[in-house]
Amino acid sequence: MAADGEGNLPAYVCACGEEHPPTLTRWRCDCGGLLGLAPGVAAPAVRDKTTSLWQYQVGIAGGGILPWPVISLGEGGTPLVRDHEPSGADVRLKLEFVSPTGSFKDRGAVVVVALALAVGARRVVADSSGNAGTAVAAYAARAGLDAEILVPVATSPKKLAQIRGHGATVTTVSGGREETAAAAIARVEAGDAFYASHVYNPYFYEGTKTYALEAVDQLDGDHHPTFVVPAGNGTLVLGVHRACVELLAADRIPALPRIVAVQSEQCAPLATPDRATGPTIAEGIAIATPPRRDDMLRAIDETGGAVVTVAEAEITQAQATLARQGLWVEPTGAVAYAATTRLVRTGSPLVAASTPIVPLCGTGLKSS
Ligand SMILES: Cc1ncc(COP(=O)(O)O)c(C=O)c1O
Ligand SMILES: [Zn+2]
Repeated sequence: MAADGEGNLPAYVCACGEEHPPTLTRWRCDCGGLLGLAPGVAAPAVRDKTTSLWQYQVGIAGGGILPWPVISLGEGGTPLVRDHEPSGADVRLKLEFVSPTGSFKDRGAVVVVALALAVGARRVVADSSGNAGTAVAAYAARAGLDAEILVPVATSPKKLAQIRGHGATVTTVSGGREETAAAAIARVEAGDAFYASHVYNPYFYEGTKTYALEAVDQLDGDHHPTFVVPAGNGTLVLGVHRACVELLAADRIPALPRIVAVQSEQCAPLATPDRATGPTIAEGIAIATPPRRDDMLRAIDETGGAVVTVAEAEITQAQATLARQGLWVEPTGAVAYAATTRLVRTGSPLVAASTPIVPLCGTGLKSS
């Protein structure tokens, strides 16, 4: 990925062939298409005292040109620990809930807010089921930017308190994630706020890809990972895929690790697109029509992975099992673990002869 956009920031690319330098108001292509970034280079971690995700700074957004040092909260660098359940498999848990705002969304938010600063934003707008909004609110506060975060009316009260605590304006929208996104886009189109979207802004994936870069470095070289990840809008699915493609191109891994995307049975647009959706306790992945659905399916297919769904009872059970080994996560943070334990128990080839890496992606402290 060449740093050839305006101000040496990597340009957005669209499937139509157009390229656009990142600017304050650009959030999609003139053709209406979603913006992406050309593949980057998986640079090895720097060997200094950096323990945050910025140890991979050379490979993030073209390397070294975002003003992240002024806003970093030490995000990333999360522990990878063994699952203590006697499943018979070598399952590893990556403790994303120890992130500064309590979820893995900090990885993407720090990059997107640094981009907002770089393009001269004074104000950011984001829509979220809660965690991305709290992450954007926190980094916007750190950056001295005003923030408005739009959330569905049913969002957990503790997440709303956290967003407000960071000084952002919370706007609740009646309806679900789709209505909330539409309201945010209307706001962005009507003014000059930067759209700090984890769905539309591909710089977000430059942050989430560090999840997989870290995990691969934390495993011994003779372990072949399978990445089991929750899938709502797909920031982990697509970030992990991006990391793995870069690592393979750099000969740092022998093959693309499988990506197993996990959804709630109640809301599974990747697995059962024609089924009506219902309510789920996994609020973070209650996304009925993810804009990057096709990208996610392509990424999963390319790795020989699959989409797996879990029942509400399995999510609750997984949350309790994790709690009994000292790990307190929100329901969405237990979804990938719920799927992994079933895949291991049933001897699924998806996790055979590999080390399943499971993100515990959101803290239980802010769920009801
Ligand atoms: C804790 C948690 N896990 C997983 C997800 C799903 O992430 P994505 O929508 O990027 O797929 C979210 C999204 O908000 C979340 O809050
Ligand atoms: Zn286009």
